[in-house]
Amino acid sequence: MDLFEAIRTRRSIRRFQERDVEEEKLQQILESVRWAPSWANLQCWRFVVVRNRETRQRLSDLSYVESFFAPLGYKANPAKKGIAEAPVVVVLCADPKQSGNLWDQPYYMTDAGIAAQNLMLTTHALGLGTVFVGVFDEEKVKSLLNIPAEIRVVGIFPIGYPLSEKKEGPDRKPLSELVFNEQWG
Ligand SMILES: Cc1cc2nc3c(=O)[nH]c(=O)nc-3n(C[C@H](O)[C@H](O)[C@H](O)COP(=O)(O)O)c2cc1C
Repeated sequence: MDLFEAIRTRRSIRRFQERDVEEEKLQQILESVRWAPSWANLQCWRFVVVRNRETRQRLSDLSYVESFFAPLGYKANPAKKGIAEAPVVVVLCADPKQSGNLWDQPYYMTDAGIAAQNLMLTTHALGLGTVFVGVFDEEKVKSLLNIPAEIRVVGIFPIGYPLSEKKEGPDRKPLSELVFNEQWG
């Protein structure tokens, strides 16, 4: 699969088969993350790889944050089931001290976001699926996984073989709404 095809056909996958993820595929995913660009090449990201069934279930439970979802009328994070059923869950963490902070722009989030995209595209190119889960109870996730206080948890990524073929996902804004020529507006 070439790069553009991977970018164009990747979709958030939220339900998974029981089938295990081969260790070499997982290593390839992690290797692709290792090569992401970062502020001053400081590589602020760290990953906790979770295969334990009970821990995956706990992470799934922690993906519901009432104050965020209840006003939207959601009873669960749409990715909740997937976190419990995917054979591998990668928890993306970042150390803000190992990145830049320029004019109130915390670049650890940028670094982690780029790492996340490498993870998602490689996962997809290998015939697997994942979803960026950004809503979860961070303090409880940290306590569950023994993550130090100064580290931020940026995302949770269930990884596995998709339960079904995913069709087209939500559409995107047209370029005419996104791109300006020479000057804004
Ligand atoms: C930073 C970030 C946080 C996200 N958090 C969640 C989440 O908590 N639960 C979920 O089901 N999807 C989550 N998503 C997935 C988006 O809803 C999804 O990427 C978007 O709707 C576009 O769909 P697509 O990925 O299939 O193209 C998140 C995506 C990003 C980039």
